[in-house]
Amino acid sequence: MEKYSIGLALVITASLFSLGWILMGSDDTPEKADPATLAKEKALFDDICATCHGINGNGDGVLAANLQTKPRNFTTGIFKFRSTLSGQLPTDEDLSITIKSGTHSTAMTTFETFSPEQIWALVQCVKTFSPRFSDPNEYPLKTISYGNEIPFTRESIAKGRKAYVEMQCNKCHGDAGEGNGSSADGMADNWGDPIQPSDLTNPSNLKFATSPAEIFRTLATGLDGTPMPSYSGAIPDSAMWYLANYVYSLQTHQGYYEPIKPEETE
Ligand code: HEC
Ligand code: HEC
Repeated sequence: MEKYSIGLALVITASLFSLGWILMGSDDTPEKADPATLAKEKALFDDICATCHGINGNGDGVLAANLQTKPRNFTTGIFKFRSTLSGQLPTDEDLSITIKSGTHSTAMTTFETFSPEQIWALVQCVKTFSPRFSDPNEYPLKTISYGNEIPFTRESIAKGRKAYVEMQCNKCHGDAGEGNGSSADGMADNWGDPIQPSDLTNPSNLKFATSPAEIFRTLATGLDGTPMPSYSGAIPDSAMWYLANYVYSLQTHQGYYEPIKPEETE
């Protein structure tokens, strides 16, 4: 009996795994859903997402005017939160994470109660709004490498603090990380809306970057469509981990929490 149930569990796990694989599709090629499925996906989108993102996905839903951070215009095919290199499309998995978890500190709330099938449907629907997703030249997508994670120690935080000055993060995010650097005023995003560098000392001002790994991802991918650049290829992975640890120390008020002094930036 014991053996039988283990066997059955394995079979069920294996089939769930392959079902998941089929549902998520592959990120090597553009994927097309059949018209009947697409109509169902669109109905779900119209019900739930269009109030903000608009029926045509161009970000002009009825609630958009009143929101400070505007809902994404999907027709541009530009996405902030990805595991892919700067300038690339997000993977299906990236989109499903955004939809499930939302982006903290904005009107994009969590949709955790959706079934995996509903999330898949919404991902496919979001992808229909931009022709980039059906262009074979956009594939295969290249995801970032995390290199070797460097532990959150006082030493790595100190190295990150140095890199923060060297890479001039303070020009945007400020000497104390509060989002008020000398070039912080008057910034706009690619969609023409005003945008402010994040207050790195305030976790509730952060969208995803609330762990060293998520901060690393932000640095490696950049936030496309915003002034937040990508550092992949520009600095070693180790430097991005130091920076991630320093930024994490700012939001958790641990370790090396001391504003950069003017003489350090000369
Ligand atoms: C109450 C308003 C609101 C609703 C409803 C809403 N969103 Fe959003 N959504 C936003 C805002 C605002 C942003 C922009 C967040 C940002 O720029 O940080 C966003 C961003 C996104 C992004 C893009 C993130 C990126 O990487 O650039 C995706 C994908 C998304 N929403 C999908 C959906 C889907 C699918 C639904 C329906 C299940 C939905 N949203 C419902 C407000 C909303
Ligand atoms: C040219 C200005 C600019 C520079 C330089 C810059 N940033 Fe940013 N950064 C931004 C803006 C603007 C945002 C806000 C994006 C948004 O809210 O969508 C941001 C967001 C972030 C976030 C928050 C992401 C989240 O999930 O909310 C982190 C962390 C961050 N930056 C770290 C850094 C670090 C570390 C450096 C230096 C290596 C740096 N930034 C350099 C402009 C900049």
